[in-house]
Amino acid sequence: MRIPKVLVAAALIAAILPLNDAQARKKKKTFTHETVAVPEVQPQVIAVETQNTSLVLCVREDGELQQLYYGKKVDASEFEAVPRVHNRYGSGCSAFPSTGASFLGQPALHVRYADGTHNTEMRYFSHSSHPVSGSDAVETTIHLKDHVTGLELELSFLAHQAEDVIVACSEVINNTNAGVELLDIASSAMTLRAGSYLLTHANGSWAQEMQIENELLQHGVKLLETRRGTQTTQCGNPSFLLSLNTEQLNEDYGEVVAGALAWSGNYRISFEQGPEHFLSIVAGINPFASAYPLGKGQRFRTPEMVWTFSDEGAGGASRQLHRWARKYRVYNGGEVNPTLLNSWEGAYFTFTTETLIHMIDDAASMGLEMFVLDDGWFGNNYPRNNDRAGLGDWKVNVSKLPEGIDHIASYAHSKGLRFGIWIEPEMVNPESDLAHAHPEWVVQSPGRVIYQERSQWVLDLSNPAVQDFVYGVFDSVMQLSPSIDYIKWDCNRPVFSFGSPYLDSQDRFYVDYVQGLYNVMRRIREKYPDVLVQCCSSGGARVDYGSLRYFNEIWTSDDTDGLERVFMQYGTSLIYPACVMAAHVSEVPNHQSRNITPLKFRFDVACQGRLGLELQPRYLSADDMALVNRCVESYKNYRDLVFTGDLYRLGSPYGNDIYGCMYVSEDKSRAVVYVYSIGFDARGTDGQRFRLKGLDPSRRYKVTEQNVDSSCWWGDGGVYSGAFLGSGAFNPVLPNLYSSAIFLLEAE
Ligand code: DGJ
Repeated sequence: MRIPKVLVAAALIAAILPLNDAQARKKKKTFTHETVAVPEVQPQVIAVETQNTSLVLCVREDGELQQLYYGKKVDASEFEAVPRVHNRYGSGCSAFPSTGASFLGQPALHVRYADGTHNTEMRYFSHSSHPVSGSDAVETTIHLKDHVTGLELELSFLAHQAEDVIVACSEVINNTNAGVELLDIASSAMTLRAGSYLLTHANGSWAQEMQIENELLQHGVKLLETRRGTQTTQCGNPSFLLSLNTEQLNEDYGEVVAGALAWSGNYRISFEQGPEHFLSIVAGINPFASAYPLGKGQRFRTPEMVWTFSDEGAGGASRQLHRWARKYRVYNGGEVNPTLLNSWEGAYFTFTTETLIHMIDDAASMGLEMFVLDDGWFGNNYPRNNDRAGLGDWKVNVSKLPEGIDHIASYAHSKGLRFGIWIEPEMVNPESDLAHAHPEWVVQSPGRVIYQERSQWVLDLSNPAVQDFVYGVFDSVMQLSPSIDYIKWDCNRPVFSFGSPYLDSQDRFYVDYVQGLYNVMRRIREKYPDVLVQCCSSGGARVDYGSLRYFNEIWTSDDTDGLERVFMQYGTSLIYPACVMAAHVSEVPNHQSRNITPLKFRFDVACQGRLGLELQPRYLSADDMALVNRCVESYKNYRDLVFTGDLYRLGSPYGNDIYGCMYVSEDKSRAVVYVYSIGFDARGTDGQRFRLKGLDPSRRYKVTEQNVDSSCWWGDGGVYSGAFLGSGAFNPVLPNLYSSAIFLLEAE
């Protein structure tokens, strides 16, 4: 049919000419302008309490949930009289601020609805509290609702009474009539009110993890975040301390709030100080490239944010976190893990069965309890003789180890040692059978180079088939020998140019990757509840309370230089307990730093954590071997304190020539004290004074220096009261750089 020319011209003119207002309104999508009524609610205070702390929330007449207080325990009912806050720039201190209404700060919740709108105003609906069986915790759940869209939110607070720890998380329930996108969904938000806020957090990189920085927060926003995808720690850590009303981090005094996000992927923690000087903290999964789609009827639960408050300084906050972690978070936390010899720095990729058998013999004669075969044992078509090939092909390399793994593992058992083995199941070398068989399993973006790092690619754990494969790697390696007791799980690179051939929405990638990892770990723990599993990631790049739910320990760093380790272990100890901290003695010059420190210093530092050796024992002199035996033996006598005791740091290594720390048993009957010289102190001729802490002042302790014939403290072998030892009279002489000592204290 031919269209008359005049009609074509009219259509063209209509398309070109601007619409008048009436026409435009007709064309545009219309919004409903009728305001949805929000039911009034009865104002009330909701208190989340532990033995010594209170988090006070309140419901306003309009249903908004606000946070009034977090700190030392108070009578929450008194807060009923506090007038509700409306500030100039926002709606007051919302307990979980969402994008919408007059809130203009960093949101904890930001949703894009199906109609393209962004506003959410969560209002109180109900709440409930109940004790949690099997613990002293009380769980409070607060249910909120957006009356315009129907979106619902549940805030949960698990209050661990004795440890003074509150574990918070949130869950969005999409009861709207269509799919939504979660542009931001934090685990928890917290508002603090103080005169000043000193933020202490970790910075770092490979071989220099957990370097501590302190900064006084100013107005504006400070972010702690990572976008590494697979790794949480090499550049920062999802944790912090906030010291209130002070400009200095203090070990023993003052109010400190500590927080740690239990998530092993991209995180973001924001600290925003507005004109009212309140500090608003919002912590959760990093929203970077993660506009997470949530279908109608679906729920999204965030990872947990762990909070604690102490008025006994950084030391108090650390101890509370450690107690909670040992009891409720770390896999089999507080159980003593074996001392070990790891093959990595002693053999790297170059070994035969004979090399390993000799190392096992040496480990046994040094009094160690486990041998761990690190990287290099697998790959045939692409043998793993260096880091450029073989990852993904988890079959024993028959030319290196023709007798197989069971031969070595059962030999270790026959010598009274346990046996461990290394895997890196999330990764693949392009030079491998796996990469050729399953190129679609590799993280990639269409048309773009798949960048290598350490000659490897990342496998796409958001894909359930890859999750099955990764689980299968663990499972099949465990079948190599009934004598496998320990797996070292490595993860040596971050994600670049992210993308999943499996996912429809690439916005899911970063979140689904971590959830995929947790799915795998859950399955592993169901089948292998007793296997020890170390969380290693290019050293200590995956240190967080998300992974520690499944792992027994962390590999703190590839840098085992004693001096460097003093700082890294101090940094780790601010948040994580010593029971997870694997610490090895290696040879000198150190393979990473090239630094040379005495063997005794290296031991005295490594004995702060789960002790191991990572060297070729054959190269040790007879004298060194004797010292090794002595140190290992003595460590076994007091290591229960490392795994279960309360940590007291004696100062800080930063800016000081001496540093020390100690672990004290819960009943205060025993303690172990470590002291180090980490800088030349020319004036320390009278000895360096340490005030020992955590002891019972009225009990008397026998003090015995370990691993020496002649002690560096005049009082060695004597019996002294806890009060005397805390007075500064404990002044061991540490004359040289790298002088160090360990003392055991036993109550009479
Ligand atoms: C990195 C780890 O941190 C090391 O301990 C070692 O296992 C290597 N990977 C092996 O490739």
